[in-house]
Amino acid sequence: MKLNFNEQSNAYIEYIEGYLDKKCFQYDSEPQKKLFDAMRYSLLAGGKRLRPIFVFDFCRMCGGNWQDSVPFAAALEMIHTYSLIHDDLPCMDNDDYRRGRLTNHKVYGEAIAVLAGDALLTAAFSQITSAPYSADIRIRAVEILSQCAGELGMVGGQVLDMESETRKCTEQEVLDIETRKTGALIRAACMLGVLAGNGTDDQLAAASEYASLLGLAFQIRDDMLDVIGNAHELGKATGVDITKNTFVQLYGIEKCDALVSLYTKQAIDKLSDFLNNEYMTLLSEQLTNRTK
Ligand code: IPE
Ligand code: IPE
Ligand code: MG
Ligand code: MG
Ligand code: MG
Repeated sequence: MKLNFNEQSNAYIEYIEGYLDKKCFQYDSEPQKKLFDAMRYSLLAGGKRLRPIFVFDFCRMCGGNWQDSVPFAAALEMIHTYSLIHDDLPCMDNDDYRRGRLTNHKVYGEAIAVLAGDALLTAAFSQITSAPYSADIRIRAVEILSQCAGELGMVGGQVLDMESETRKCTEQEVLDIETRKTGALIRAACMLGVLAGNGTDDQLAAASEYASLLGLAFQIRDDMLDVIGNAHELGKATGVDITKNTFVQLYGIEKCDALVSLYTKQAIDKLSDFLNNEYMTLLSEQLTNRTK
């Protein structure tokens, strides 16, 4: 069957959007409505839904029914959204716009924004436990997700990112930041997709390698867009990472462009362990020159 890339993307996005909107944080009899509003404000603000797409498509490539993996996909999007709410706080990047609207703390105040992030992180693990898979698979999913999100992964990367603001980093130090703060959650998404699709250990390893390379390309492109992107299209301000250590600061835009292509090509090579990898190959290629 010929791949229809846009149809597949739309199917994935509609499915996760519907699930997040209809199944998450709508409690009629609980009084802490402000918290639920703040959680849904950021969670339902759009965004590319890339991490859910990775879960769905790795599940599909392994022969699984991708719709079944939606609790894993939702878990990834909840943790990603929490990381963005906290990343935008005044004590971190101090940003006013995200996903085309005011940042969470600008609308709900800092305390609620911190707590909405906390609650999204916690709810993610409840999603994993509710997924329609064996206890063994759900435990492995919790293990991977907690490692990738926590002190060895995303949170660890955010700390390195902040610490690096006052000095000049080497290439290895920038690699250390970018693979953790962004690469780790993308790795969790791809690996949870393999678990959901009942893939092999080799496929799990290949997904991890793919995601590490793709995640690097993705963050370098994010850093480039801070310089060459359009704030309206991105839904967030540009020119804000000027004090940060990024590949753009190290090498400039042109070399970064070449690095994004190189890491993406290396990532795509890791997809040879999967049948029906045309969608993921095309998606990876399209991300190299994304504008949002
Ligand atoms: C932004 O992630 C933050 C990074 C980790 C680079 P995305 O570019 O995936 O943001 P959304 O989900 O589309 O808003
Ligand atoms: C974000 O990196 C990484 C996480 C949120 C974990 P950035 O700070 O570059 O992301 P943006 O540019 O604000 O989306
Ligand atoms: Mg940041
Ligand atoms: Mg930021
Ligand atoms: Mg950025």
